[in-house]
Amino acid sequence: ADVPVHGTLDAGKPGALVSRHLFGQFAEHLGTGIYGGLWVGPDSSIPNTDGYRNDVVAALKALHVPNVRWPGGCFADEYHWRDGVGPKDKRPTSVNTNWGGVTESNAFGTHEFMNFVELIGSEAYVAGNVGNAPPEEMAQWAEYMTATGKSTLAQERVANGREKPWKLPLFGIGNELWGCGGNMRAEYAADLYRRYQTFVKVPAGQTMLKIAPGANGDDYHWTEVMMREAGKLMDGLSMHFYTVAGGWPPSQSSTDFDNKGWIQTLSEALRMDDLITRHSAVMDKYDPEKKVALVVDEWGTWYAPLPGSNPGFLQQQNTLRDALVASLTLDIFTRHADRVRMANIAQMINVLQAMILTDGPKMVLTPTYHVFAMYLPYQDATELPLRLDTPKYTLDGISVPEVHGSAVRAKDGHVYVALTNLDPARAAQVQVKVQGLQARGVSGQILTAPKVTSRNTFDQPDAVKPAAFDGARVQGDQLKVALPAKSIVMLKLR
Ligand code: AHR
Repeated sequence: ADVPVHGTLDAGKPGALVSRHLFGQFAEHLGTGIYGGLWVGPDSSIPNTDGYRNDVVAALKALHVPNVRWPGGCFADEYHWRDGVGPKDKRPTSVNTNWGGVTESNAFGTHEFMNFVELIGSEAYVAGNVGNAPPEEMAQWAEYMTATGKSTLAQERVANGREKPWKLPLFGIGNELWGCGGNMRAEYAADLYRRYQTFVKVPAGQTMLKIAPGANGDDYHWTEVMMREAGKLMDGLSMHFYTVAGGWPPSQSSTDFDNKGWIQTLSEALRMDDLITRHSAVMDKYDPEKKVALVVDEWGTWYAPLPGSNPGFLQQQNTLRDALVASLTLDIFTRHADRVRMANIAQMINVLQAMILTDGPKMVLTPTYHVFAMYLPYQDATELPLRLDTPKYTLDGISVPEVHGSAVRAKDGHVYVALTNLDPARAAQVQVKVQGLQARGVSGQILTAPKVTSRNTFDQPDAVKPAAFDGARVQGDQLKVALPAKSIVMLKLR
């Protein structure tokens, strides 16, 4: 029998702004994320515009990507920006020591990234090198990108082909300073943050938000120290959390799993809620006005590498399970939108929980991509309180809510309700009492598939994709939804 779930939605009680920046992405020099995935070079036989793949650019434009984080990741704390500017044949090659030891040609550098961001209508979130570069290098990079007039660095930029300064609205001071960024203690990292951020500037009239390097998962001590020692000098504080079922190092397959693997991963992803709650509580102690944003600038699933792939390339497939990880996470961000105001899924193309997969000239949109498309109305919407009184789905001692959700009032004035059914076998009958709104009708979209392991491949690119949903109706003040097993539904109330 279908599982009954009851809830309330109060459209008359608007909460926090759901920043569009929660839907940001991350593109690192890692595997085929940049080279082959995004950038093929202008001489490639793969259709491109100035070296950027046309198919990928069109897909990203459709998603209204609000910001792109680059060049890393671990890569950022070893990256020297000067290697990636000027004539391509004069750029040095280096070794990507973090990711497979492959040769980095530096063909994709500052100009290629900043122009790409403009091309897809997004904003740049550049991560500077604290790990093995002096503060002067970071300061000069920001000046190179943003200065006008007589600055020698600005002149160099012009000589390299870019007259107008770029906008640099978001800047990360280092990446995982507790790990690949230098194995630092929080106390030392906080002092370095204070120092480096002092010298990163943009000209008058431009704004740049500075994001401090943050904690690994549940390291609340890190957040405590950063907020206490440097909280007044930052606009955002990062936090990274990956969904790794079964513990580190990632060992589970991205494609071959049963209902146990399904619930393990979903319950691990739901930890994001508790992590945000607890990091936020620490931040509240030092910043009760919530001036500093919590920036989850790396999140997503991390499985074992695909058999036969270079393990340093972090290649995995993306199934219906990943789609649910995305919807659950976006719901959690929405409900914490007062503190979490930016996030970046790891990563954009061909790496970890990728939005897009490519293979030579072929491209496929993943189930995760489709979830981001369904949540488009959430960008810069206002959160609305949705309370669900839901039974649990339990397997082998692991429990998750049967149904998870969130709601917003979008910029178009309409109320949107997202519902995810985590049960792989049973449908749910969801009944929500709607207050503060006289809905006359409802329409929607659904993402589901025959199997928990269903995925899009280059041969079957549309196996998992959104379809029109007619299982919801409004009766008086009741919203009634027949929510199929293992599905995500986005409803629009009219
Ligand atoms: O996204 C892959 C890696 O995960 C990043 O480079 C690093 O910051 C994190 O550990």
